[in-house]
Order: sequence, then C-alpha cells, then structure tokens
Amino acid sequence: MLPSPTSIVSLPTNTHPPPPPLFSLIPLLFLLILVYKVIRRSRYRTQPEKLRLPPGSMGWPYIGETLKLFTENPNSFFSNREKRYGKIFKTHILGCPCVMISSPKVAKIVLVTQSHMFKPTYPPSKEKMIGPEAIFFHQGPYHSHLKKLIQSSFLPSTIKGSVSQIEDIVLGFLPTWEHNNTINTLHEMKKYAFEVAMISVFGNKSEAEMEGIKPLYQCLEKGYNSMPLNLPGTPFNKAMKARKALNEKLKRMIEKRKGSGEKGEGLLGALLSNEEDEGKKKMTMKLSESEIADNIIGVIFAAHDTTASVLTWLLKYLHDSPNVLHAVRREQEEIRCKILEANRRITWDDTRRMPFTTRVIQETLRTASILSFTYREAVEDVEMEGYLIPKGWKVLPLFRSIHYTSEFFPQPHKFDPSRFEVAPLPNTYMPFGNGAHSCPGSDLAKLEMLILLHHLTTTLRWELIGEDGIQYGPFPVPRDGLPIKVYAMNN
Ligand code: HEM
Repeated sequence: MLPSPTSIVSLPTNTHPPPPPLFSLIPLLFLLILVYKVIRRSRYRTQPEKLRLPPGSMGWPYIGETLKLFTENPNSFFSNREKRYGKIFKTHILGCPCVMISSPKVAKIVLVTQSHMFKPTYPPSKEKMIGPEAIFFHQGPYHSHLKKLIQSSFLPSTIKGSVSQIEDIVLGFLPTWEHNNTINTLHEMKKYAFEVAMISVFGNKSEAEMEGIKPLYQCLEKGYNSMPLNLPGTPFNKAMKARKALNEKLKRMIEKRKGSGEKGEGLLGALLSNEEDEGKKKMTMKLSESEIADNIIGVIFAAHDTTASVLTWLLKYLHDSPNVLHAVRREQEEIRCKILEANRRITWDDTRRMPFTTRVIQETLRTASILSFTYREAVEDVEMEGYLIPKGWKVLPLFRSIHYTSEFFPQPHKFDPSRFEVAPLPNTYMPFGNGAHSCPGSDLAKLEMLILLHHLTTTLRWELIGEDGIQYGPFPVPRDGLPIKVYAMNN
C-alpha cells in the first residue's frame, strides 16, 4: 500500500501558530502531490530503464480507478480508455496496479503462449472460501493433472450420458413456471444450473440431497459475494462456517464411496480414481481428501452462477428479438415433431442438429460477456509491445472489449446470431477463456442451454414485466433478475 502523504510531511510541533490562511496551504498541497508522485514513480520504477510503463491513469491515491470501474457501464469504462491510450493501458483497481489488454494478440500471449509468466490471482478471502487446493489457483504439474481429471468428466463423450437426467430436471421445473405464472428468471435458472451441477459432480441428485449440500452451498455463496469481514454474524463468517461443514459432508461422502469399494459416478468418481496412463506404466497422483473437496466446491461455483446468468440473458435477448425467437421456435418444433413421431426422448444427436439455436447461444455469450475480464499476475518483469509490465502487477485480458470490437464483430451492439455462420477470427471470441485455464465446462453449459431452450420455446411463451437495465451480482444480469410472466403456447 502507498504511504499516506500526510504521514510523510510533518509540521513542526514545538510552536502552535494560528491556522494558516488559505493561500499558504497551496504550496503545501503542491508539495504533498509532488511527494506522492515521486514515491509512486519510485515504487513502479521501470526496469530496465529504457522500457516505459503502458500509458494510462492510476486514478486517485489508494482507490485508483476502482469506483469508476464499478459504477460506470463496463463497456464505456474500457472503450473510453482504449480510445485515449490504445489497446494496452495501465490503471489501478482494488489497491493493485493493473495493465488492461484489449488486443487479441497480446491477450493470447498472456493466456496461452507466455502463460507461465502470468499466474492466476484471486483475493485471499475468495481462495480461502473455495479452498486453496482448487484448480483456479494453481499452475504447473498440479494444475495440468487436475485439469485432465476435471476435463475428462465434462468431455462430450462423458456428458452425452447425462442428456436424459438434464431433460428430467427441465421437465420437473418448467410446469411450475407455467403454474406460478410470474417467475424471477435468474432465481429459476440458478435452481436449474445447481441441479445440473449436482448430477455432473456426484452422478445423481440423491446423494447430495441426503447430505444436505444445497443449504450449506447457498450460505457459502451469500458470503462469497459479501464483504470479507470475519466477525460473528456476518455473511462472510456464516459462509466460512458453512464451508467447514461442507468439508465434513464431502469427507463423509468420500469415505462412504471408498468403503463401498466403488468410486462412483460424476466428477467425484473421477477424482477418486485418479490414475493416469503414462505410456505403458501407470502413474498415480493420489489427491488428498481436502484437494478433492476444494475442487468439488470449486467446480460447483464455476458451473452455477455463470450458466444461470447466461441463461437469463438468453431469455431477455430472445424476447427482445422476435424474429430470432421465431427462427429458434421453428427449428425446435421440427425436432419436437420427430421426437413425438418416434415416441422417444431428446438425445445428444438431436442437440447436435440445432445450428440456429447454437448460434443464438454463441451470440448471447458474446453480447452478455458475463466474464468481462480475467485476472493474472506477472511473476517477473515482462516486456510487452515495447512496454514494461513490472513483476507483481495484475494483467487483465478484457474479453468484453474484444467481443465489442467492430473490426472483429461488425455492429457489435446488435444481437445478430447470423454473424456466427462464419467462425470468428482466432483469439477474438473467448467467452470460455483461452489457454491453460480455459473453461472445462463449456460443452456442459451449452448442452444445458440447448435442452432448456428446446422445451421452453416449444411449450411456453414469456413477457418481461420488469424495467430495463443491468445489475451486477457478481456477473452482469438483467435488472432484478428478469421477472417474467409465463404462458402456455397455443398449439
Ligand atoms: C456459460 C457458462 C460458463 C462460462 C461463461 C464460463 C466461463 C469461464 C471462463 C472465462 C473461464 C476461464 C477463467 C480464466 O481464464 O481465468 C472458466 C474457467 C473454469 N470453468 Fe467455466 N464457465 C461456464 C460454465 C462452467 C461449467 C458448467 C463448469 C463445470 C464444469 C465450469 C468450470 C470451470 C472451471 C473448473 C474453470 C477453471 C479452469 C482452470 O483454472 O483450469 N464452467 N470458465
């Protein structure tokens, strides 16, 4: 943290002169600013001397540009600075000097080609709450080992087997929408995404239900998005207690599975049987119980709010674009006719024959860009495009800015799924990130959306009843979670 300017310049204390008139304070003010600037410059001194820091403003002392980032529309925060300084600029957010990047080429260097120079970084409170052994916080061999295990549970060949279970969840809750008539889209999507996460992590819902995982997880989530104030009664404190209880429950589940001699289904089964084939010899890297627990909690976190937020935007964009909704309905009704004729359920292959609906999902992921950026930290001084990124500085590839660049996505503010008839240029479309830490759950998230859209668009219609606007909590979502009125479709 920067030293306080008032603590650097101390006035003599042996005399007590009358308060100085205003004009005599001006030189003092200049002096304070000068001292502050000198200290700041020496702190962020460029090494080697020839290299400059990227252009940009570090904002106010201490708070930097934090308030601006969290109060302005993120699109204008990024685009105003990009216009002024270019595609790589410095700023100061949440007490940290940062470099923001909106060039696909430089973002690729950070996330892919030179990713070893930029480690993932999260606030310590978040790391504590999810669990320090979770995949997000690591690099190197432990990260790659975990990534392989987690990825294997979410490959198309694995999630194919979950289509009926996901459909069962949809068929269980869509009738309640129609019955209740008015619903809060975000709340409902959170319930849906949570249930899908449960079956992917545990293989079925009942094991987690028996252990009472849901109420503990909900308490954890509330605290995760609150002030990290660990005092009795605060949401953070309650969340830390819930996290401890979750650990115990997960340990019990692991012991039960081990005791039964069966590793069981879902990600938990994969993490329990973590044996890797290395050529002919088998290499075993056993994960401890706390490593397994941290990664189970981590994956539920990563899968839940993200998918629910994108699903909420889907309903908003479809409602606001009647032509697009009409085309989705037509595509889904054709599939529904085939399913009804054959008297069968929706299959994985059906979901592969939804090209228009798939493009609507791609465009929703671009337009909503719910992860506006990600954070990395330079592990040493790095030269980038002729600038210096000093060791310890945060580096933020701006997914949202890249998704809103008209050079890559013409008329970027228009919701136009047809733009995905042609594949986007490499490294310009990153709703699921890029490189070593890219999202292992992207296929599952898209599958959830396709199955829901199939039933939703062929059986129900909806009207928005709230006001327009965006809220952040923590991802951008339509205001008040998009309250809607739902009606059965006339046949
Ligand atoms: C639409 C929904 C989703 C979006 C937009 C999304 C987006 C992302 C992004 C951008 C990253 C990279 C973050 C970074 O580079 O720092 C990421 C990582 C991750 N996501 Fe997702 N995600 C979604 C759904 C899911 C689901 C359903 C799962 C369940 C498996 C999941 C599990 C993960 C995990 C475990 C990571 C960390 C990977 C690593 O550190 O190697 N996500 N996600």
